[in-house]
Amino acid sequence: MTDSIKVPDVTALKEKIAAELAAVRDRSLAYTDVDDDLLVRQHSPLMSPLVWDLAHVGNYEELWVLREVGGITPLRPEIDDLYDAFTHTRSARPSLPLLGPDEARRYISGVRGRVLDVLDKIDLDDPDPLRAGGFVFGLVVQHEHQHDETMLATLQLSREPGLIREGDLPPGRSTNLGAPREVHIPGGIFTMGAAATPWAYDNERPAHRMYLPGYWIDRFPVSNGAYTEFVASGGYEDPRWWTAEGWQWVEAKGVRAPLFWTRDGDIWWRTRFGRPEPVPADEPVQHVSWYEADAYARWAGGRLPTEAEWEKACGGRTYPWGDADPTLDQANLGHLAARPAPIGAFPQGASPYGVEQLIGDVWEWTDSWFLPYPGYRSFPYKEYSEVFFGQEHRVLRGGSWATHPSAVRTTFRNWDYPVRRQIFSGFRCARSED
Ligand SMILES: [Fe+2]
Repeated sequence: MTDSIKVPDVTALKEKIAAELAAVRDRSLAYTDVDDDLLVRQHSPLMSPLVWDLAHVGNYEELWVLREVGGITPLRPEIDDLYDAFTHTRSARPSLPLLGPDEARRYISGVRGRVLDVLDKIDLDDPDPLRAGGFVFGLVVQHEHQHDETMLATLQLSREPGLIREGDLPPGRSTNLGAPREVHIPGGIFTMGAAATPWAYDNERPAHRMYLPGYWIDRFPVSNGAYTEFVASGGYEDPRWWTAEGWQWVEAKGVRAPLFWTRDGDIWWRTRFGRPEPVPADEPVQHVSWYEADAYARWAGGRLPTEAEWEKACGGRTYPWGDADPTLDQANLGHLAARPAPIGAFPQGASPYGVEQLIGDVWEWTDSWFLPYPGYRSFPYKEYSEVFFGQEHRVLRGGSWATHPSAVRTTFRNWDYPVRRQIFSGFRCARSED
């Protein structure tokens, strides 16, 4: 919910919103510019067919911008039910009478035209929390980027080659040179959650002060190389490292490595967007479940950080480096390449404590359940956050290489089941003071 904000330059904000809307739509259309067969097929029971995501983002935009804020008569009320994420599970979606690819593109473009009319007329200084500061546009832009990241996860699961945008990433640097592996964060009070960020979600609010005892946190995310040592030392065969549920999962599924990894003799390979390649030792590990992250941390003599510890290590600003939007030498976000950047690639993105790669590369599992902050109020609807609170989902922080800069910040909270690993998830370790 927005604190009362007076927008300094309404025209500039409207231009920024229009540019963000255009950019996210270009991204969605690029990911769905594939054969119809690939769009309507279900690649995994965990995921919707891509054509569902495509029409769903338009339907969400219609519900919130056109109907709720614009007061516009529904364009296609009969399809609302199909695209309501709470009515049909992902595995049930392929059997629904969904809009076909062309119809879906026509529908979302029709919605978008009217959205731009609403943007043109809206008063962004209106105290109504959906209008103030353009919150409703932030809601739909972030929502569409989140579905774009989901579509990338679907494409990765499909193992179809193609759609690997390979930009250049900065090189890593040796983690042994100049920087200790762990950073000490002294005990004290810090402010957790979002105060001034106008597009922050309800679950990031309210900002609140809390005391944390001193702790150590890894300077970098855990690398594939380090993770391979856990695998080689028999980590998956030793129940000592696992919680009871984690061990049950390993045994039941026969899990022996991160998702998409296979072994050929002594060499680990991974399949990335349909292409096999040796696992690069110097990249953050990704496609691990919370159970795996938690077991590795115990094996390594530590534990996962709580989300409060993770957020404090960022240093209390919108991003670890400050409040300015990310640059290419600060973070790997927005699908610059289709992979995490090597460990140590972003010294310019370090937090004031010297912790690196907190934002981008891989979502980082934390030890925390997804729970409301003290004083939480649901906004704009209970199904965004509130229905997920409880001891079912673990919090992930920091965004991945597939996350757009508009859809992440140091206060941003993502959540998922502890078994999930089709997401671009990794982790770093922490430990309490001796
Ligand atoms: Fe959604």
